[in-house]
Amino acid sequence: MSATTDRSAIPPFGQSFIPPDQAASTSADPAVGQSAGPLIELEQVTKIYDNGCRALLGVNLRIKRGEFLFVTGPSGSGKSTLLKLLYGEEQATQGDVIVNGVTLTKLKGNQLAKLRRQIGIVFQDYKLIPRRTVSENVAFVLWAQGFTRKEIHRRLLPTLRMVGLQDKTHCFPEELSGGEQQRVSIARAVVGTPPILLADEPTGNLDPDNSHQVIKILQRLNAIGITVIITTHDEQLVRQSHCPVVQIRDGRLIRVRG
Ligand SMILES: Nc1ncnc2c1ncn2[C@@H]1O[C@H](COP(=O)(O)OP(=O)(O)O)[C@@H](O)[C@H]1O
Ligand SMILES: [Mg+2]
Repeated sequence: MSATTDRSAIPPFGQSFIPPDQAASTSADPAVGQSAGPLIELEQVTKIYDNGCRALLGVNLRIKRGEFLFVTGPSGSGKSTLLKLLYGEEQATQGDVIVNGVTLTKLKGNQLAKLRRQIGIVFQDYKLIPRRTVSENVAFVLWAQGFTRKEIHRRLLPTLRMVGLQDKTHCFPEELSGGEQQRVSIARAVVGTPPILLADEPTGNLDPDNSHQVIKILQRLNAIGITVIITTHDEQLVRQSHCPVVQIRDGRLIRVRG
């Protein structure tokens, strides 16, 4: 991993990067939902895991379309659980999780899959496929979603350029620094142009310079209309921004700023 990174490697967004598909939010598909209210809403949400662990307790949260929200809190406070509820990996024990007008607990079968297509996810440990190149890692999501070869081709390079990896398309993950790997994972998360991006401790394994770069990319994505929710326990990172902040402590959520 390289300790420092050339920030100029990331160009400003060109016209070619495809902004989120606004049409998706007005679709009549029940798994896509209507867009009148807040984009994301948690109402009195409690999550108790099967082993009795009380991860979230009576959480209320409204996230507006286009918001950039930090979720902070110490390790084990419930940040990842909150994101897992939003993309349907876990279900609330009590309360409602509503994403784009759709109550997640009421979704069945492929409706959840459709909803997930509206959500890009970035993890602390990147989760790239080791024996696949940068291009293949990013293209794979589109291929899995049934995009045509032509459409995959149209989206791939602008997205990789957006994260400053246009010269690394044929590299394998092990040939990249941690910061570069995280940028591949961001490209993968947004190449399908979802309106929502969830990032779970995306800078957790990165040095301050690479962390700054990742946040900058997420802010640029937010500037073109993607709603970004990012968890972190890095107080300094939060202090450096002016974005809204909520904090989770012992499963309870409080608004800190914005
Ligand atoms: N699958 C699970 N089964 C049981 N307990 C879990 C599970 N996932 C998380 N927890 C517990 O829920 C609490 C919150 O975890 P998590 O949401 O991962 O916190 P954070 O992301 O803030 O570190 C912790 O006490 C953790 O041990
Ligand atoms: Mg976590």
